[in-house]
Amino acid sequence: MTVTLPPEPTAHGGMDVLTHATECYISRCTHPLAETLSLCAIRLVFQYLQRAVRAGDDLKARGRMLEASIMSGIAFASSSLGPVHAMAEAAGGAYDLPHGLLNAAFLPHVIRRYAPEIRPKMEALTQATGTGTPAFSTAVEDLALRCGIDLRLDVPFDEDALERLVEVALRDQGMGPRDLDADEMRTIFRRVLDGARNP
Ligand SMILES: [Fe+2]
Repeated sequence: MTVTLPPEPTAHGGMDVLTHATECYISRCTHPLAETLSLCAIRLVFQYLQRAVRAGDDLKARGRMLEASIMSGIAFASSSLGPVHAMAEAAGGAYDLPHGLLNAAFLPHVIRRYAPEIRPKMEALTQATGTGTPAFSTAVEDLALRCGIDLRLDVPFDEDALERLVEVALRDQGMGPRDLDADEMRTIFRRVLDGARNP
């Protein structure tokens, strides 16, 4: 079913899977089964996404990515997503950009923001990347780069547009480790949408 999917949507879809699993793993309403499935999905994405992007007919990589997708789907269906999805969906609706691309761009910033709350979970997250990279957020950025995704977005926005994005994202931010406030979201939106000038 997926072997003819071109590299770009493959990469974006894979980063969406990674975001589902990560948001579910750090959610304040996660549970042991969801945590286990999420970590398993994260391991698979780091092992196989780049392979699936580079060779669409690599059936093993495609199969493992489908397993990761369903694992993360089952996991978040019984717990919750969080503010990465809230902000990605707000920006995706406003600027018609791919969901997975935006998740990939927002995820590292949100993870850094939550560093104090998720400290006990960081070791398992970074181990699941299998990359030896000490910070999970950096490993996510490296994976995106290896899959051909440029996270340095250049989306024009004014202050009114920014406030509308914050308002939409605040209304439906799911269940992160804690709720982000408007200031935090504003800061992250600025960094991500203006990523080309804020590397
Ligand atoms: Fe998603």
